[in-house]
Amino acid sequence: MAKVEVDLATVPEGKNVIIKWRGKPIFVRHRTADEIAEANKVNVSKLRHSEADSDRAKKPEWLVMIGVCTHLGCVPIGEAGDYGGWFCPCHGSHYDISGRIRKGPAPLNLEIPEYDFPEEGKLVIG
Ligand code: FES
Repeated sequence: MAKVEVDLATVPEGKNVIIKWRGKPIFVRHRTADEIAEANKVNVSKLRHSEADSDRAKKPEWLVMIGVCTHLGCVPIGEAGDYGGWFCPCHGSHYDISGRIRKGPAPLNLEIPEYDFPEEGKLVIG
């Protein structure tokens, strides 16, 4: 299966990039220390789809997700919504800075693809 390589030096802290992988958008966010703290202070047991941030991000500063809303498949908008993460304008799903569903009709968190950091500064998706 095709893999996609990302040079992480091209993604400044506090920014998102969107990469195409297997015909799907992949969101890569270089999170700030504040965003990581925000993602970790959430009471996971109260979430609709209960997942700790540490189970979603292999390295806390890099959040890598499939950019497809788990409701009906629209592409959410970054840096939007009520929880500082992503917002799906199709029917109003709000995802937090860990990509977890917090409000709206989507049933699940944004999916995490297979990925790895084979060396410093490099991300491989797939
Ligand atoms: Fe995203 Fe419906 S497809 S809220």
